[in-house]
Amino acid sequence: MPGVGVLISGRGSNLQALVDAARRGELGGEVAVVVSNVGSAPGLERARQAGIPAVFRDHRGKKREDFDAELVEILRAHQVDLVCLAGFMRLLSPVFVRAFPGRIVNIHPALLPAFPGLEAQRQAWEHGVKVSGATVHLVDEGLDSGPIVAQEAVAVLSSDTPETLAARILEVEHRLYPRAVRLLLDGRCRVEGRRVIVEGE
Ligand code: GRF
Repeated sequence: MPGVGVLISGRGSNLQALVDAARRGELGGEVAVVVSNVGSAPGLERARQAGIPAVFRDHRGKKREDFDAELVEILRAHQVDLVCLAGFMRLLSPVFVRAFPGRIVNIHPALLPAFPGLEAQRQAWEHGVKVSGATVHLVDEGLDSGPIVAQEAVAVLSSDTPETLAARILEVEHRLYPRAVRLLLDGRCRVEGRRVIVEGE
């Protein structure tokens, strides 16, 4: 069974969606370890509740490369095949990205390449777009810039606030992320330049 390592910094609702999908046998693998750079992240408790090793590793006072090397070591020790970023609020250095080539994914709460970076739902709302959504993408050395594995649109309503929009996007994230992870773990994705070709799609 392939192993997934999940990196978090907070709430961990996407982590929970991955754990739940794995439990139902719908992920194509299991969550082998959860690592947080924030000790109080509620996601760590979710992992413990699910009986998954939950590791807190503080990034403060460390060089980015040194912290990333520690993460790599933890993930390797748990024989992780795929790394999922799920609300992990740290930029990863080339040290990390090169340790898992083509095997790191992230979920972003907007339709990339629109609105990369922080508070994407608020950015989209403030821009006045009529459609936003969620994106699962491979992680490269840029910010939210890697090849796109899966996307789903969410209509922006006139009555929306950034918060109501974020809540509807989050529901989509919770079904999109496990599906995309499954495609990757099942070996159904092939990268051609910027394009991810999904078998049968
Ligand atoms: C999600 O909106 C995700 O798209 C973004 O950070 C948020 C994490 O939420 N990258 P959670 O910790 O998974 O609940």
